[in-house]
Amino acid sequence: MHQIPTVGLGTWKLWCTYHKQSLVKTACINTLEALNLDYLDLYLIHWPMGFKPGDKDIPLDRSGKVIPSHTSFLDTWEAMEDLVIEGLVKNIGVSNFNHEQLDRLLNKPGLRIKPITNQIECHPYLNQKSLIDFCHGRNVSVTAYRPLGGSRDGVHLMDDIVIRKIAKKHGKSPAQILIRFQIQRNLIVIPKSVNPSRIRENIQVFDFELTEKDMEELLSLDKNLRLATFPSTENHKDYPFHIEY
Ligand SMILES: NC(=O)c1ccc[n+]([C@@H]2O[C@H](COP(=O)([O-])OP(=O)(O)OC[C@H]3O[C@@H](n4cnc5c(N)ncnc54)[C@H](OP(=O)(O)O)[C@@H]3O)[C@@H](O)[C@H]2O)c1
Repeated sequence: MHQIPTVGLGTWKLWCTYHKQSLVKTACINTLEALNLDYLDLYLIHWPMGFKPGDKDIPLDRSGKVIPSHTSFLDTWEAMEDLVIEGLVKNIGVSNFNHEQLDRLLNKPGLRIKPITNQIECHPYLNQKSLIDFCHGRNVSVTAYRPLGGSRDGVHLMDDIVIRKIAKKHGKSPAQILIRFQIQRNLIVIPKSVNPSRIRENIQVFDFELTEKDMEELLSLDKNLRLATFPSTENHKDYPFHIEY
């Protein structure tokens, strides 16, 4: 039996090849053992899509399409709930769920624990207003991932002329504007950096406030531009990005 929880840390995600109910606990224990922890603060279903279990993280057929598992995220959720009841994780949530998928989960008969958050890509070029309104309307928090636009070639959110103008006005960096934007929308925001001075910069966002006009200007930059795409999974029955939000 697993020992009584004493040390926990951070957010981790259940990968798509572990959606089968019998594999969910295995995945969680593997993470706890790798990190030498007794529990996780937050565990998320990484994507609504289940993949064929095995050695390959993304099992592909000969035409380059992902091989699905015959699972439903509603069943996977039951095993996630068991992790909380067993004390292996404190909270559970989802990631990359569209509003229909979240709605199905929230209306699941016998639901024992509600998802605490939906972690989704969110920045001014994909502002996710409809999905955020949907989540907040149901008391599900939203976590904004890739808030700085990540490092994809060709997309330089931090060079955007409007963002740079607002940054200059407040004496802040474009990254700080992008982080503060999400805070003022009541989102949890998770910028990533491996650079200590940028990590320090990214937390200096509580000593200024964006005006209503700044917020409107940032919201108006939306172009429905999704950076975290997953093309090999587009044929999957639970692919989340075929509908508007
Ligand atoms: N749920 C999901 O499916 C999913 C998908 C993608 C990402 N995520 C999560 O979201 C978090 C962040 O996403 P992300 O790394 O894709 O994108 P991001 O945080 O938007 O961007 C990270 C990039 O921005 C740079 N950067 C960070 N701070 C900066 C600053 N102050 N000035 C200039 N550049 C700066 C980083 O470079 P340096 O490191 O060199 O500073 C890195 O290249 C991660 O924790 C990740 O796990 C989740």
